[in-house]
Amino acid sequence: MELQGSRVWVVGASGVLGGALARGLAAAGARVALAGRDAERTAALAQELGGAPTQVLDAVDVESGRAAAQAAAEALGGLDAVVVATGVVAFGPAAEADDAVVEELFAVNTLGPMSLVRAVLPQLADGGAVVLLSAIVADAPTLQMAEYSASKAALSAWASVLRRELRSRKVAVLDVKPPHVDTGLVDRALAGTPPKLPEGFDQQAVVDAVLAGMRQGAKEVALDPRAGELVLR
Ligand SMILES: NC(=O)c1ccc[n+]([C@@H]2O[C@H](COP(=O)([O-])OP(=O)(O)OC[C@H]3O[C@@H](n4cnc5c(N)ncnc54)[C@H](OP(=O)(O)O)[C@@H]3O)[C@@H](O)[C@H]2O)c1
Repeated sequence: MELQGSRVWVVGASGVLGGALARGLAAAGARVALAGRDAERTAALAQELGGAPTQVLDAVDVESGRAAAQAAAEALGGLDAVVVATGVVAFGPAAEADDAVVEELFAVNTLGPMSLVRAVLPQLADGGAVVLLSAIVADAPTLQMAEYSASKAALSAWASVLRRELRSRKVAVLDVKPPHVDTGLVDRALAGTPPKLPEGFDQQAVVDAVLAGMRQGAKEVALDPRAGELVLR
């Protein structure tokens, strides 16, 4: 898709990767609408980007997500792409996970994004894109992160079917599977403390790969472990 002049709804724009993606998209000439749970941080980014429209939503509350999707589409006069960058993590042994924490993980990482995409699809132009941030753990489930890995793997599986079902509309579904990036996500974990993590991957490289993937209609952004680089597939 052409980013210049496109209308893109960025959900999770109050977060580090979501905010960086919104900045990257705006710099590429896209008109962005910004949704976040934290109204203040979302509004501050909107101001930085010249007064972008904003929506406040809680991904656990499906109704607030639907209303936000509608508001974003109205504000931009339709949508060419949606980027969903909401997410939470939790750590600890699978056998000891707290049920409420597991529910929240799946609500924010899996069910919320699926619901938001469903809400947006009727407004999304043919030839557009759905961009979902899963994670490297979708392909490589990690010790002490069983539920986070499972929530991302489920999102990734769903995205792979959605991609095939949207082929007739020429809507690309880009599954973004970054390795660890130092965004502070792990310090905001719902539970537990992180295991030893690899050095954080370059944040700007993730943004650049996502923008390139959107332009090319790629299926995924993933780490090539040998090259230590993100590749498009
Ligand atoms: N950082 C990494 O190492 C890494 C690696 C692979 C994949 N990812 C994925 O990349 C995405 C962005 O993560 P990040 O590193 O940028 O972390 P982040 O800065 O903590 O951003 C997380 C975002 O999710 C939002 N969020 C959390 N719970 C929510 C809820 N109930 N309703 C609505 N929004 C909610 C946060 O909103 P508020 O701030 O407004 O509360 C924030 O916008 C996530 O899906 C994450 O799993 C991250």
